[in-house]
Amino acid sequence: MARIAVIMTGASGSAYGMRITEQLVLFGHEVVFCATDAGCKVCACELGFELSAGDAASAAARLADFLELPSAEGVRVVYPTDLFDPIASGSYPLDAVIVAPASMGFCASVASGLAADLPERVCDVALKERRPLVVVPRETPLSLVHLRNLTALTEAGAVVLPAMPAFYQRPETVDDLVSFIAGKVFDVLGIEHDLFRRWGEG
Ligand SMILES: Cc1cc2nc3c(=O)[nH]c(=O)nc-3n(C[C@H](O)[C@H](O)[C@H](O)COP(=O)(O)O)c2cc1C
Repeated sequence: MARIAVIMTGASGSAYGMRITEQLVLFGHEVVFCATDAGCKVCACELGFELSAGDAASAAARLADFLELPSAEGVRVVYPTDLFDPIASGSYPLDAVIVAPASMGFCASVASGLAADLPERVCDVALKERRPLVVVPRETPLSLVHLRNLTALTEAGAVVLPAMPAFYQRPETVDDLVSFIAGKVFDVLGIEHDLFRRWGEG
C-alpha cells in the first residue's frame, strides 16, 4: 500500500482532489491531505465542504465524514503553514505527490522552486528526490506563462495531467467525468482502480 500526499489548491475542481483522496483511502492507501487557503475556500464554494477550522484530527474526521469513508483512519490532514511536518523533509518516505486541482499560481511557484509553504515544499521535495509528482492543472485558456511553467514542471520530472476528461467512455454524470481524471492519475502512478471503463472493455 502506498503513502501519498494529496494537495488541493484553489483552482476550480475541488472534486478531483476529493475523489482521489476518497479512492486512495478506500483502497487501503495512506493519504496525507493538504489544502491551500484558496483550496479550502474554493472547496467550500464548489462542494459546500469547510475543511479549514479546527485541529488536524477533527479536520480529518470531517473530511472522512464528507467523503463517507468508514473512518478517518488512513487520512491525515496537514496545514500549509506547518513547515515542520515530517512530509516537508526528503527523509520522509512518501511514495507520490498528487496536486489536484492545481492552480496556475501554484504551478508557477513549484516551477520556480519557491517552496514557500508546506504544499510547495512537498512538491519541491518530490522533484529533488525524483519521486512521482502528478499535477492536475485547471485553467483555460492557457497563457504562454502557464504553458512555460507546465513545461518547466515536466522538464523537472513531474507528470502534468490536465483536468481534461474524455468522452469516449460515454460519461453520464459529472461524477463520471471526475472519476475519469482521478483514474488517469492512478494509471500514471500504477495504482489499481475501477473508476472508468477502458477503451476496448465491454
Ligand atoms: C471560485 C474560484 C475558482 C478559481 N478557479 C481557478 C482555476 O480554475 N485555475 C486557477 O489557476 N486559478 C483559479 N482560481 C484562482 C486561485 O484560487 C488563486 O490564484 C489562488 O491564489 C491560488 O492559490 P493557491 O495556489 O495557493 O491555492 C479560482 C479562484 C476562485 C475564487
